[in-house]
Amino acid sequence: MTFEGRIAVVTGGASGIGAACCRMLAARGARVAVADRDLARAEALARELNGIAVALDVATLAANENAAAEVETVLGPVDILVTSAGVLQRPLRAEDLPEADVHEVVRIDQIGTWNSAVAFGARMTRRGRGSVVTIASIAGMRSMPLHAYAPAKAAVIEMTRCLAAEWGRSGVRVNAVSPGFTLTPALSAAIAAGERDPALLEENSALGRMVTTDDVAEAVCFLASDAARSITGINLPVDAGWLVAPSWASYGGLPPARGNAP
Ligand SMILES: NC(=O)c1ccc[n+]([C@@H]2O[C@H](COP(=O)([O-])OP(=O)(O)OC[C@H]3O[C@@H](n4cnc5c(N)ncnc54)[C@H](O)[C@@H]3O)[C@@H](O)[C@H]2O)c1
Repeated sequence: MTFEGRIAVVTGGASGIGAACCRMLAARGARVAVADRDLARAEALARELNGIAVALDVATLAANENAAAEVETVLGPVDILVTSAGVLQRPLRAEDLPEADVHEVVRIDQIGTWNSAVAFGARMTRRGRGSVVTIASIAGMRSMPLHAYAPAKAAVIEMTRCLAAEWGRSGVRVNAVSPGFTLTPALSAAIAAGERDPALLEENSALGRMVTTDDVAEAVCFLASDAARSITGINLPVDAGWLVAPSWASYGGLPPARGNAP
């Protein structure tokens, strides 16, 4: 899979899953724009990848439109957009969750994803080609004590399907990747704050481990590439088998390893 001659933008590209996507896209030949509200970290990564850094807070449409215009002026027309900008949420009881937290998560994770997809996607439709990969979450596919984050991610999965239908005839594909628990600075901070238990995160997946940022980036690169030219409107979980495992608790849990497991 090569991205030679392609231009890619990754929102939230300065850290975690977004940074892994930037590195993998660049390693496979793409010119990469690292778009993030943390400009200093975006600039550091852009230097390393011979790309560009773009200051972007995804929460407003105007900022995304400015970023799209800037990337097009500096690098050229964008072929690939990955929307990884996002914030996690404290697992609080619904009645204890501050309204401000709900608004912040919806503003960034849901509306921010919409803003980026529409700002960059509109330009792709005018050129008749492009691929958008949104970063959703397994939280958007199952109930969790994340009363703002889980619905926001479910909305990302559904907006991905809606946009895929909207732009299919215009040559633009739109797909989602739903990571499972992935050890990024955001998840590490939640673990350090006692908000997630790493042993439980590992134990409750079929493969018995968490996901790496490169695992997610591989799926993103596949969906962004021509190898996925007939795929649009899907949601691809990369979750080390978390989605299939919890229901086994009703039958005594997952069977132990047979033979010599790695
Ligand atoms: N880590 C996980 O376990 C996990 C699981 C499922 C989904 N996700 C999703 O993956 C994405 C990346 O998460 P991560 O774990 O890599 O987090 P991270 O904190 O390591 O990286 C997120 C990046 O997004 C940037 N960002 C945050 N708000 C922004 C805004 N308003 N505008 C622009 N940039 C902004 C941050 O500055 C940071 O660089 C998020 O959408 C998150 O919901 C993460």
